[in-house]
Amino acid sequence: MHTVVLQSLNDFDEWRGQARELLRAGVAPDEVVWRDPKSEAGLFEQSEPDIAHAGDVRPVGAVPPAFIELAPKVLCHSDPERFGLLYRVLWRLQADRAILEVASDPDVVRLAGMASAVRRESHKMKAFIRFKSIVDDTGLERFAAWFEPDHYVVEMTAPFFERRFTGMIWAIVTPYRSAYWDGQSLAFGEGGTRADVPSDDAVEGDWKTYFASIFNPARLKVAMMKSEMAVKYWRNLPEAELIAPLIRGAKQAEQAMIKRAASQPPSHHLKRVERHIIEQPEPTEIVSLADARAAVQGCQRCPLYEHATQAVFGEGPGDADIMFVGEQPGDQEDLAGKPFIGPAGKVFDAAIEVVGIDRSRVYVTNAVKHFKFEPRGKKRIHQRPDAGEVQACKFWLNLERAFVKPKVIVALGATAAQSLLGKTATISKLRGAPITLEDGIVLFVTNHPSYLLRIPDREMAKLESAKFEADLALVRDYWRGLEN
Ligand code: URA
Repeated sequence: MHTVVLQSLNDFDEWRGQARELLRAGVAPDEVVWRDPKSEAGLFEQSEPDIAHAGDVRPVGAVPPAFIELAPKVLCHSDPERFGLLYRVLWRLQADRAILEVASDPDVVRLAGMASAVRRESHKMKAFIRFKSIVDDTGLERFAAWFEPDHYVVEMTAPFFERRFTGMIWAIVTPYRSAYWDGQSLAFGEGGTRADVPSDDAVEGDWKTYFASIFNPARLKVAMMKSEMAVKYWRNLPEAELIAPLIRGAKQAEQAMIKRAASQPPSHHLKRVERHIIEQPEPTEIVSLADARAAVQGCQRCPLYEHATQAVFGEGPGDADIMFVGEQPGDQEDLAGKPFIGPAGKVFDAAIEVVGIDRSRVYVTNAVKHFKFEPRGKKRIHQRPDAGEVQACKFWLNLERAFVKPKVIVALGATAAQSLLGKTATISKLRGAPITLEDGIVLFVTNHPSYLLRIPDREMAKLESAKFEADLALVRDYWRGLEN
């Protein structure tokens, strides 16, 4: 029996190095015991220095990209069997490169389930982290948050916070690892405890107790520190003259952003959904709108999930007669997890109120569920989704249509019309009359409310608003006609 003692809980390169050695030596999966730093026996054991080669050194076959994609995520799962399971699959891949395509294979099902659980945990971390502000007597503000993940997701999720809160100094502490961003570089250190992070916004005294203890360089010595620069910054933090002006300028806006981000987490009751190897839910496994709402948080049908905070699913009664479909969530919607709550949402709310449509009776959603944007300084600038992204996301819109069964659908803007009609759409040609879709549902097409916000000329804006309201009045009349 061979024992492999890993130094890291979730380091793919380390596991891969060991697995390759074992493979080369022809060591079968059931001859290996894997231990990580959390395994009790692991504390007292050492890896065997040399693996006795069973006969010839074997060539290691090329591994399918799907395995390379899956394995780092599986390694972040907390199941102690993850290392052995991955090694067994790697071993089997040497004889059959296609096993990952067999969605019913028990090992493949397990791997896919573990990767899904890790991805969901990473989404949860993005949605549930709440930063506390810590201010020292120079006015320097830093932020810290405590999070207890079910899986080892800090390293894979921290870059998201780096992108989102670039201008701040922040720390995220978890029991197994902490992440630290000093405004320049991201570093990881030992885990901590809940007491390392103040329970409320704190002043300098508290900072000394908590923050200093989290980022005591001694605790970071084993960390995977990316640069010398980072160490220098930690040591200098109490003086902080270099960074303070930078931070002060951005302070209020960032604090507001954090509070907004924390205000509306998505549902944490993410229902377990079996996934096939590319980790997408099979349509047959989603049997209700609630299932779809939960499953969309794991969507990777297109790359937009990578930078968005969360998927924003539709909202409204599950049996609404009218479904409004916009383009994609904007900045505020992305943070809050709700559709049409930002500036475009305000225009929309006002217009439907004018014509007498009650928002609480309609279902409001988007053609694309993740926010597409380009970071520009601290701003996230809206980018129009492309045809591929719209097509990929149609899966979710179709589910919403299937469960809500609206009698009337309203496309707000060209992207929604394109998704619903399956071809490019010109609003001016389509507005003003009902269109019957293939399944018999009636579609109305009108402008996107954000179009009204972009019209510089006041007269023109008034005219377009009136046209928008007239379109909505047609919808109202059609709906009333159905009711009578
Ligand atoms: N624009 C949209 O299309 N949808 C939203 O939810 C917000 C802005």
